[in-house]
Amino acid sequence: MILVTGGTGLVGAHLLYHLLKENETIRAIYRSEERIEVVKKVFSYYTEDTSLIAKIAWFKADITDIPAMIPAFVGVEKVYHCAAFISFNPKDYKEMRKVNIHGTAIIVNLSIDAKIKKLCFVGSIAAVGDALNGDLITEENEWNKELDNSGYSITKFGAEMEVWRASQEEVEVVIVNPGVILGSGFWTSGSGKLFSQVKNGFKYYTEGITGFVGVKDVVKAMVLLMNSEVKNERFILVSENKTYKEMFFLIADAFGVNRPSKKIKVLANNCALAYFINFRGVY
Ligand SMILES: NC(=O)c1ccc[n+]([C@@H]2O[C@H](COP(=O)([O-])OP(=O)(O)OC[C@H]3O[C@@H](n4cnc5c(N)ncnc54)[C@H](OP(=O)(O)O)[C@@H]3O)[C@@H](O)[C@H]2O)c1
Repeated sequence: MILVTGGTGLVGAHLLYHLLKENETIRAIYRSEERIEVVKKVFSYYTEDTSLIAKIAWFKADITDIPAMIPAFVGVEKVYHCAAFISFNPKDYKEMRKVNIHGTAIIVNLSIDAKIKKLCFVGSIAAVGDALNGDLITEENEWNKELDNSGYSITKFGAEMEVWRASQEEVEVVIVNPGVILGSGFWTSGSGKLFSQVKNGFKYYTEGITGFVGVKDVVKAMVLLMNSEVKNERFILVSENKTYKEMFFLIADAFGVNRPSKKIKVLANNCALAYFINFRGVY
């Protein structure tokens, strides 16, 4: 049995489809019925066959609720932990700490207790340290707490530390650190907003640059890593580095709408755009 958290999100929904195609037995955490409809929509992009999604054993729980989460681990051998609270609003910092750090600690503790074989955690490039002298960032870059890190970055780093703890307690772990993940089904939230905002005539761009990766590549890498001998390593998942300007122009051209034309000054932690469209490059 495989347990998936965050199955109603962008990564989780695509992951569920991928796992079910491999005939895996899945239990997926959810919080509300309407979010299961979003998963159905994602599945409909892949197949007209509705029997696949019917194979998911949905389990209602909040990952921060320990008593509710305990039974979710019965009979589980592998865990994919995709759930997180993503926000760049400083007001959400406390809640993000609760979900991302404390919630991950709960997943880790229950994984240790249930003696699961392997845990895959979806981290972020936001939790990888910056490169010096303009070098490319690698998995070896160390987190620098002195930098002006976003609340989201801090909580993703804290969550990753919890996952490394599992590796010291006889749970094999693999961590993926994706860049901005692009994929279908989530048009008005998260990175999907990039597309909807540009299509709706968003006028601004910045010279900032970040790494982008497709959601299908992310879930494929996660499954390959989980089915491999690889353990206790982390992997940056980025297929291309692009400036926001390039990305926004590509999207605008694809939709046949006007390209964003007003350049915004990049703020200290490169989050100028976030304030306009609630989206930040370092995800
Ligand atoms: N999207 C990106 O560009 C990107 C880039 C790098 C890393 N990541 C990481 O990738 C992972 C998945 O991101 P995503 O884009 O799929 O995010 P998403 O679409 O916002 O989905 C988040 C998922 O987490 C669930 N969740 C949040 N709080 C929860 C709680 N307290 N209890 C149970 N479930 C909870 C949500 O459930 P509901 O549906 O009920 O809200 C949803 O299923 C996250 O760890 C994120 O940090 C994302």
